[in-house]
Amino acid sequence: MLPLSDNNFNLSKELDRIQKILKRNNPNALMGRSMTFEKGILIVIIFFALGLFVIPQTVSLFEGEHFWYSIEGGYGSKCLKCHADIYEELNQSAYHDTIDGVSGFSGNECYSCHRANLTITYANGSLDQPGREAHAASSISCTYCHFNASNPFNAPVAGGFGMTGLANDTGTEAAHRGFVLSSANGSISGSSLLLNASEACIACHTPVEITINFSVPTQFDITVRNSVSGSNSQWNVESIVATNLTVFLEEKK
Ligand code: HEC
Ligand code: HEC
Ligand code: HEC
Ligand code: HEC
Repeated sequence: MLPLSDNNFNLSKELDRIQKILKRNNPNALMGRSMTFEKGILIVIIFFALGLFVIPQTVSLFEGEHFWYSIEGGYGSKCLKCHADIYEELNQSAYHDTIDGVSGFSGNECYSCHRANLTITYANGSLDQPGREAHAASSISCTYCHFNASNPFNAPVAGGFGMTGLANDTGTEAAHRGFVLSSANGSISGSSLLLNASEACIACHTPVEITINFSVPTQFDITVRNSVSGSNSQWNVESIVATNLTVFLEEKK
């Protein structure tokens, strides 16, 4: 406990001091008043104390915490509250501005992609449908639309990898089928960084930076065998094996 009796602080001495300073700075201010300075202070204190009871509680902890949105017309543009950076990216894109049914970017495109998966029950704002597998949004893969020839978004099909189920889409000649397959989940070397084959799609179709280690052979070992039958001598190439691998780093900035 602080010793109250000591001379560290003395209220009436302190008030005297303040009064003197005020008088010095503005001698007319307190002159000729019947009310003493102490009384003035007391009245101010009473005024504030009354205020505590009389003034109703008007300040919320968080501004706007009692203003609620109706989300029945879609919540899309509200996604930007927290993901404004992603909207900025989307806004620079040449594509995907029409998937919400309206051309031009508004933010509602988020809703179209991240609620596209119709096997998922989302909360839909109509009270009789609370969310089940997801509430506001879920992750999606590029292939959900682009490998599905009958997708309801009319997304152009990314054919030629043998993944669309379309007649003649065999993928047998596709240079990058291995790339797409190894990006897809489930295969032995599949990447789970993004869903399905999205890593391969964004690698080619977006400015994302890429680093690839190409392991390239710098030598052939050729085995040639000679076979002699009677007076006939014949040379056959038995095998060609690529060896002496060197790694070349390719970077796309
Ligand atoms: C109040 C802020 C907030 C709002 C509004 C919001 N998000 Fe998010 N979102 C987050 C946070 C925080 C995370 C990361 C944490 C997490 O996964 O729960 C996230 C993660 C995500 C992810 C990544 C999930 C994953 O598995 O990697 C997606 C996709 C997403 N949000 C989409 C949306 C969409 C679409 C909307 C609009 C319907 C939206 N968000 C609205 C804060 C928000
Ligand atoms: C919800 C469905 C959907 C998803 C998911 C989706 N897209 Fe699309 N995509 C579309 C539609 C619809 C179009 C055509 C209309 C448009 O551009 O607005 C399109 C257009 C494109 C185009 C332009 C094709 C052209 O030349 O006309 C590319 C490239 C593309 N998408 C790549 C991707 C990539 C990469 C992903 C994943 C990161 C992805 N898309 C995810 C629906 C989708
Ligand atoms: C054309 C479809 C498409 C549109 C439009 C779209 N997204 Fe995505 N988004 C994706 C895909 C595909 C991924 C990668 C998901 C995965 O595999 O994890 C993704 C990933 C995300 C993530 C995860 C974090 C990250 O950076 O990888 C967030 C958050 C997100 N989206 C929010 C949004 C918001 C907000 C909007 C609207 C401004 C939006 N998305 C519009 C397809 C889309
Ligand atoms: C090796 C790079 C590469 C990869 C990987 C790749 N694409 Fe493409 N994509 C291309 C090229 C190149 C074109 C043709 C562009 C042109 O000539 O107009 C194309 C065309 C498209 C088109 C337009 C198809 C049309 O009807 O004209 C869509 C949509 C598309 N790609 C989506 C995807 C998706 C989704 C993935 C992931 C599964 C993917 N791409 C993977 C390079 C790639």
